[in-house]
Parts: sequence; structure tokens; C-alpha cells
Amino acid sequence: MIDWPQNNINPDQCAQLAKVLEQLDSSQKIWLSGYLAGNSLATASFSEQVTETAAVKNHKAKKLTILYGSQTGNGESVAKNLKSLATEAGLLTEIFSLADISVKQLVKKSLITLVISTHGEGEAPDDADIFYEQLFKKNAPDLTGLQYSVLALGDSSYEYYCQTGKDIDHRLNELGAKRIHERVDCDVDFEPASGQWIDDILVKVEDVIKPSPQDLGNITTLPIQNTESLCVSNKSNPYEAEILTKQKLTGRGSDKNTYHIELAIDPTQVQYQPGDSVAVIADNNPNAVERLLKHWKLQGNEVVTFKQHTKNIKALLTEHIEITQISKPFVKFLSEQIENIELQNLANSHEAFNAYCEQKQLVNLLNEFDPGQKIDVKKSLGHLRAITPRLYSIASSQSIYDDEVHLTINLSNATANGHYGLASGLLCDRAKVGDKVKIYVEPNKHFKLPKNPTTPIILIGPGTGVAPFRAFLQERKEQQASGENWLFFGNPHFATDFLYQTEWLKLQQQGVLNEIDVAFSRDQTHKIYVQDKLKDKSQLIWSWIENDASIYLCGDANHMAKDVEQTLIDIISQHGNLSFGDAKTYLKKLKRTHKYQKDVY
Ligand SMILES: Cc1cc2nc3c(=O)[nH]c(=O)nc-3n(C[C@H](O)[C@H](O)[C@H](O)COP(=O)(O)O)c2cc1C
Repeated sequence: MIDWPQNNINPDQCAQLAKVLEQLDSSQKIWLSGYLAGNSLATASFSEQVTETAAVKNHKAKKLTILYGSQTGNGESVAKNLKSLATEAGLLTEIFSLADISVKQLVKKSLITLVISTHGEGEAPDDADIFYEQLFKKNAPDLTGLQYSVLALGDSSYEYYCQTGKDIDHRLNELGAKRIHERVDCDVDFEPASGQWIDDILVKVEDVIKPSPQDLGNITTLPIQNTESLCVSNKSNPYEAEILTKQKLTGRGSDKNTYHIELAIDPTQVQYQPGDSVAVIADNNPNAVERLLKHWKLQGNEVVTFKQHTKNIKALLTEHIEITQISKPFVKFLSEQIENIELQNLANSHEAFNAYCEQKQLVNLLNEFDPGQKIDVKKSLGHLRAITPRLYSIASSQSIYDDEVHLTINLSNATANGHYGLASGLLCDRAKVGDKVKIYVEPNKHFKLPKNPTTPIILIGPGTGVAPFRAFLQERKEQQASGENWLFFGNPHFATDFLYQTEWLKLQQQGVLNEIDVAFSRDQTHKIYVQDKLKDKSQLIWSWIENDASIYLCGDANHMAKDVEQTLIDIISQHGNLSFGDAKTYLKKLKRTHKYQKDVY
């Protein structure tokens, strides 16, 4: 007989529950525990649920507080994984997005772990920017008494690698908090390092916070199972989606190869909202694998170990090793082995590295700088990264395409010997209609339509950045949202590169798309970009902003997003009669209140 905690459940309920439980086998009980956990998460008032039993309430000081700041979901998934493993290990835990906690609240905590990614150019993710600012204020609180560990997520190809994690780790220490474990910096193939960090953290925190049996009283805990995994595909359980349509959107003579891809999905397995992305898990191009085998003078059947996989080298190169994107650590490693000025330059200059990687992949690098195979395959494997799934903004609304997901993909620089995109190469080039690809949905809660359908929206999406706005407009049409919609689109040429032109026209005729402005940069002697179109319409944009419009920006992070943001600040400054600094603060406020959202890459 289960001894129910009487302060939570009354005797009548106890009897009813006991009756139901008697009829369930163990797998049904596990399912039910997951269902109840998932259900309570869905109805929680906080964006993240605090796991708190009556016993836990009395032992705040012994709780592990898990915090995360995450833009595209990686950090969030690591934090949630830590939470479920810590809970399984019997630890008392709570979890918060950094958007839901202030630095002052840390004073009341005794032990925190913080998972944080870096975005922009060394900036905090959107959900962590206020926390980050508070942390670096002069009047930030004394955090003596707090113990912590930071897991930093980033990409070593960026100049400011894991910068936000480094900053926060340093600042917490400066404010008096004590590390229980050194910061770990994770590159794009973050899972092995983050998994190790979780294991280490669990060992270290256990002694500090594990409650005694008396603390827990007589609570019987069933293992909590993630309800999502019962029916919805995810990274470890991807969905095999059939390619229904593969249509080239750019015309003959265009410099771009942009494709519209439609995938068939089972809506009980794959669910998405406008603004979410699809992650594509792809194998490497067999030609590139063959060229690497040739470089290393291998047959392909030689068995080697890469990370946790021991297989023949051909299978490893096909399924596990990143060979299309060159990583900075690998170039650094190569430059330490081979004396070559150009290679040193690639290892030390971000501009040179970025320019090289746009055009080349691993085999080019090796052929160019190590033609004599001085570095053998085993040495190289230790410095190469694992393949990571590629994310694409979803271009359809599931309210209309219940059992399909649409993508807009650029197959850039599709040259026979240069850089060849991993997933874009598969979807736009190698795979045929009818083939299947492994996918899962990567939700993006930072890029969502306004809840209020009367809110006007301004959508700025040049190139493939327009993809999520196709989904947004489909959704607004389906919702019969009365808020006005304004789209800014740009690409090199009107004749060949006006993606989804007929669809926009139709939406205009239907009264869904109220305004559309297009910038075709190379159709005249001087270049015209979306930011120029924004400038032309600055007065009207300001009146939309004053009218509570939400602004969305999607596409290239390096140039376009910066220029558009600068233009928005100029517009706010000019028409709002604000200094440049105040206009910047105004835009920041729009960002914080989710009136300005970005999905840039
Ligand atoms: C637009 C963009 C900018 C980024 N900038 C940086 C950067 O400056 N430094 C860095 O180390 N990583 C950078 N990254 C890589 C992310 O930090 C990395 O992908 C991380 O795993 C994302 O974690 P999240 O999904 O929790 O946000 C950037 C990623 C994107 C998409």
C-alpha cells in the first residue's frame, strides 16, 4: 500500500488513486507519471516549472537551481537533461530560463548551474540579455555563499568563442560566488562535453544537496518521463520524412540556387508552429568521402575510433565526421604541425578563416596544405568535429499543411570541388523526390507571431530569410487575423530571384499582405537593399511602431541584420526625436517586450 503524503492528497483521492494504480502495469505507471509531469508543465504559470513537493519547500537551501540562456534550444535541452538526471538521482531541483530570474534572486540560492550560449558577435542570447546586464551593473549583489558552475555553448569558428559563458563565469566569481566545477566550453558538437559536464556536476552536487530520507518524508517517486518522447520525434528519435516536392525557385541565369522543398510528415509525430525550424540530419556527400579517402590513401575498410564510435573509416566519414565545415581548432592543429604562412594566417585571422571556409571544405584544406599526408588520419580524427544537424526556418503553417513541412533552402557555391553544404547538398541536389530524410523540429520560442491577432506585423526577410514569413502569413490568413502585415524582401534580381512572387501577389489580392516592399540589389547601377527600402518608408514604419507593430527580422547575421538594425535605430531616432543612444535603448526595449524578434544566422 502506498503511503500518500496526506497534506497533498485527501484520503478520498488516495483511495481512488490506489484503485487506478492497482489496474496499471509498470509501463503504464511510467507513462502516467510522464503524462502528469508533462501536463503540469503545460499548465505552469512560469515559463519553466519549479519541481516542488511539500518536503522540498522546507529545504530551499538544499536545492540545485538550474539556469539557462538559450537562443536556438541547445542550452535549454542541456539544462533540461541535467534537471531530469538530477531528479532521477534524487536531488531537489528547480529550473529557470534566465528571462525568468533576476540577479538579485541569486542571493537566496545556494547552488546554481548555468548553461549559456553566445550569439551575435559575442553577445548573450535574447532570453539572457537583461540578466547579463544586471550581472555587470555596479550595484550587482554580493554573491558570497553561492556555489556555481557554468557550461558555455558556442562555436569555435566565431571570434568571441563562448564569450557570454566566459563573462558570466568570471563575473560570478568576482561577486564572491565559488565554482564547484570549472567552466566547460562546448563547441557546436556540444553533446559529449556537455554530457561529461552533467556527469561531473551530478557527482559534485550530490554531497552538498542530497536530501536525507527524513527530508523527503514518505514520498514515493515514479521516474519522470518526457511525454514528448512518447509520440513526438526529436533529436535522438528523428522522423523519416519523405521528400514530396523539390522545386527550384530561382530562375535560369541566377547566381543563386534556391529551392522550395516539401516534406511529408505524420502530424502526430512532427508538430511545429510558425517561427520554428526543422533540423535535418544528413550523411556526407559520398564524393567528398571518396576524395578524403584518396587523400589519406585509405581503402575505407580500416577500422578507427572517432569520439564514441568505432567503425570503418568510410562509415565514420559518411555518418559522423564533419567534413563540409572546416573548424578553427582543426586549422590551428594543422598550423602547429605544418609550417606555412598562409595556414598561420587562416588560424589567426577570422576574416581570412571565414573567407576560406565559405569556398572550401576539409579535403581542399588537406590537399592544399598537406599534400604529402604528413598528418595521418588518426592524428586528424582527434581534432575533427562531429556532424551537427542543420537548421532551416520552416516556410509553412501547420494550420494549413497539417501533414507537410516546407523549407526554403539555398544551395550555395555548388561547385564540384569547393564547399558543398551538408544538408542543402542532400535536399537540393543528391536526394530525389520520394527519398526520405531524417528530421526533427527545433522550436524557437523567441520568434513567434503576436498572440493578439490585431497586432500589425512588419516582416523583414531578404533571401531565404523570407521562409518563416511565408509561414507567418499563411498562419495570419488562417487565423483571419485583422492586424496588418507588411513584408520587406530583397535579392539580387527581380527576374530570377523573386522567391514566392506569385504567392505574395495572391496574398495581396486576398487582403492578407497589406504592404510589400522589394529591393533587388543588382537591377540598377547602385545597390539597393532592404534597409534602403526601410529608409524610404521610415515615416510609415514609425507610425506602425507607434501603433504597436511587432517587427521580425530573418536572414544573414553578418551584414544584413546589422545594417537593418542600424536603420531601425535611425528611424526611431529621427521620427521619435530621440538621441542615437535613446533610440538604441528604445529598440532594446522593443526586443525585451518581444516587439522586435530576430532569427538570424
Ligand atoms: C547568429 C549566430 C551567432 C553566433 N555567434 C556566436 C559567437 O559570437 N560566439 C560563439 O562562441 N558562438 C556563436 N554562435 C554559436 C552558438 O552559440 C551555438 O550554436 C550554440 O550551440 C547555440 O546554443 P543555444 O541553442 O542554446 O542558443 C552563434 C550562432 C548563431 C546562429
